[in-house]
Amino acid sequence: MRLLFAVLLSLWASLSSSAQGATFMTNVYGRSFESLNGKWNVLVDWYDIGEKRHFEKNAKAVGDDDFVEYSFDGAMRLNVPGDWNSQNPELKYYEGVVWYGRNFDVRKSEGQRKFLYFCGVSYRCKVYLNEEFVGEHEGSFTPFQFEITDMLRDGENFLCLKVSNVRTKDAIPAMNFDWWNYGGITRDVLLITTPETYVNEYFVRLDDNNPNKIRVTLGLSGKTERSVKVEIPELKLSEEVITDINGRAEFVMTSDEIELWSPGNPKLYKTVISAGDDTVSDEIGFRTLSVDGTKILLNGKPCFMKSISFHEEIPQRMGRAFSESDAGVLLGEAAALGVNMVRLAHYPQNEYIVRLAERMGIILWEEIPLWQGIDFGNENTQGKAIAMYREMLFRDRNRCAVCFWGLANETRPSAVRNVFLENVLQMAKSIDDTRLYVIADDVAEWNDEKEVFEMNDPLIDRVDVVAVNRYMGWYAPWPKAPSECRWNVAAGKPLIISEFGGEALYGVHGEERRVSSWSEDYQANLMRDNIEMFRHIDNLAGISPWVLFDFRSPTRLSPGNQDGWNRKGLLSDQGLRKKAWYVIRDFYDECSHDPALTDGN
Ligand code: GCU
Repeated sequence: MRLLFAVLLSLWASLSSSAQGATFMTNVYGRSFESLNGKWNVLVDWYDIGEKRHFEKNAKAVGDDDFVEYSFDGAMRLNVPGDWNSQNPELKYYEGVVWYGRNFDVRKSEGQRKFLYFCGVSYRCKVYLNEEFVGEHEGSFTPFQFEITDMLRDGENFLCLKVSNVRTKDAIPAMNFDWWNYGGITRDVLLITTPETYVNEYFVRLDDNNPNKIRVTLGLSGKTERSVKVEIPELKLSEEVITDINGRAEFVMTSDEIELWSPGNPKLYKTVISAGDDTVSDEIGFRTLSVDGTKILLNGKPCFMKSISFHEEIPQRMGRAFSESDAGVLLGEAAALGVNMVRLAHYPQNEYIVRLAERMGIILWEEIPLWQGIDFGNENTQGKAIAMYREMLFRDRNRCAVCFWGLANETRPSAVRNVFLENVLQMAKSIDDTRLYVIADDVAEWNDEKEVFEMNDPLIDRVDVVAVNRYMGWYAPWPKAPSECRWNVAAGKPLIISEFGGEALYGVHGEERRVSSWSEDYQANLMRDNIEMFRHIDNLAGISPWVLFDFRSPTRLSPGNQDGWNRKGLLSDQGLRKKAWYVIRDFYDECSHDPALTDGN
């Protein structure tokens, strides 16, 4: 029965996923936009009564008989972007509904189209403009847009959002996850202006088999044949084509002068795409990416991934990261470690982080939060995963720094899970077949007889790179001395150890051999033990210690040690480097002097 259901799920997904194009325009920051960030007025709607009372109407008691029992005027104010948990102590643990409202002025012009673009709202929301329902979205970490051209008033408009961070079994992530359940309008809100016909989507990338060939795919907002121009001035490239009757075009531009992007040389080219009086400008990097046996090749050279993970959180502020300066804090500490890659855990992080990583020459692994406990047998959940994954791909497929699309994290193999993820994988490849797909499993088991780690997962054969999360010396003791631990996982394919480590409370020292010491010395020793084991994994293509900073988690309750924080950070929640930080920094420094472990440049 479950297999039949799995097959039906697969059929449903294939029918429902391939038809749609991008659900929002590519690269809003390269267009004409106004920011709607700032202080918004909010109503904390604990018992979810706002729809019944029509908060979106922002009613005012004018006449003697008018009875209005709410008002945005004079209500609590929250910063947008920003989570509500870190802005008001009463909302630190709040899981529920908050209504946001603000006025904004617009001067309408003939022939102009207007869109509301939300970079991220956590977790689900309904959008209203001038008392009318506009649309809704689910998923905290991907953008969405609505056209409001015909709903806008010339002059003052009232924008209202109902936002909820209530967890549900069929959501992504589901009921239980090891990070804080932040709620709110946590990323930028933009008002985009376009002409009647505009460049809606584009994908500009280097041909993986020919570093002199740039492939361009683009789509206009309407099914119309129009002249479209793509220019890369520094390469003296300019190509003008006519789109087909569907408003789409695909073509190739060639140049012998292309300087390849790499961690050592993060070269980006100004790229301008125009159609009529619409112009979008971007910064595009060009690189090739492939797998050769157990090696990951960047620009044709083996590249060992010296990675770290981090959550989208500034621990000192105890809140979501949302700005360019926040991106600098997180990526600056990653760069200081000597990484060439960051695994953006466990969800698509804001565009400032993605674009700054690209400018800094840091390779990225991105994923959606298909993280433990997902309701794989639920077709609604499948639809949400397909939609969320598409949104991630369409937002970031022009970012050359993104080299890995993560399929899932610690999802146990089963018939429904295998079909669910295969559907996501097939859909994803139909949009982007230029990158490496990776899955992070935690089912590697020690075979005592053979004295080797092994792992069974049918998806190992379906992805380009296999990754394993394994916390030896933390959640489970070492099966043997680290130097004697051998691996036979994903033989013949690149293997990344995508999570390892243990917890330490900054400032606690001593007892480097007692796991419950919570000491920096134990954590540092644990890193050294893992590095010793890594030296004996033949197909090791990269490592990513868990995690850069201590981060907030409702599941970490050890009093005096955790107190609501996961302490696996190499840095404390105050940004102080623990002893383990130096162990990893020294290992990455050693790697960077190993001629066999290039950075693809
Ligand atoms: C898991 C999971 C992380 C989690 C970590 C931990 O592997 O992927 O999200 O925080 O382990 O237990 O600290």
